Amino acid sequence: MEITLRPTSPEDLAFAIALERAVENRPFIGPRSREEHLDAIARADREHWIVEDGAGARLGYVILYDVRAIGQGIYVKRIAIGPKSAGIGRRALGYLVAHAFRDLGAEFVTLGVYAHNLRAQKSYRAVGFEMLEQTMEERAAILREVDPFSEECLVMKVTRPAPAV
Ligand SMILES: CC(C)(COP(=O)(O)OP(=O)(O)OC[C@H]1O[C@@H](n2cnc3c(N)ncnc32)[C@H](O)[C@@H]1OP(=O)(O)O)[C@@H](O)C(=O)NCCC(=O)NCCS
Repeated sequence: MEITLRPTSPEDLAFAIALERAVENRPFIGPRSREEHLDAIARADREHWIVEDGAGARLGYVILYDVRAIGQGIYVKRIAIGPKSAGIGRRALGYLVAHAFRDLGAEFVTLGVYAHNLRAQKSYRAVGFEMLEQTMEERAAILREVDPFSEECLVMKVTRPAPAV
């Protein structure tokens, strides 16, 4: 299936909010208020993307935090895709990781994922993300400065490839 990404508009938020509250997604992601979504659309250090199929039907959404200014790269705050295990998540994330490296000049992209969310981890590994071993101080910094995710979350990271010489 062909997919495209475009910036989210306020008209998309009923879709995004319904998706994150759907029973199959609730074990893996927390609900965000409409105001939190609007904040992510408006802020210069956030990106909110809608994933669509070739006919323009909404499939999911992604929120990125740009935390390069504090040395934390680009952080994938949220990804939620309706049709599961059809390769849509990995393609959307692959597109945005390439965007982070190419357009934003990020050195790395990280995310937090529940240890029990094996489907998400498999999708992320297909994009090049690997489990990150963190010191207590590094974990405390990401919790304090980027996202206060659950103790049950693991952190995964993909690093920008070195340029070919
Ligand atoms: C996580 C999510 C974004 C991944 O997107 P996706 O399009 O479903 O994932 P992909 O198709 O790219 O990859 C999923 C892989 O997991 C596999 N998989 C599915 N269920 C699995 C399970 N229980 N255990 C292990 N692997 C599983 C699939 O077979 C597929 O791998 P393969 O194609 O190599 O066989 C999507 O499933 C989703 O929105 N889930 C609910 C919300 C969520 O978990 N968000 C992320 C929070 S960190």
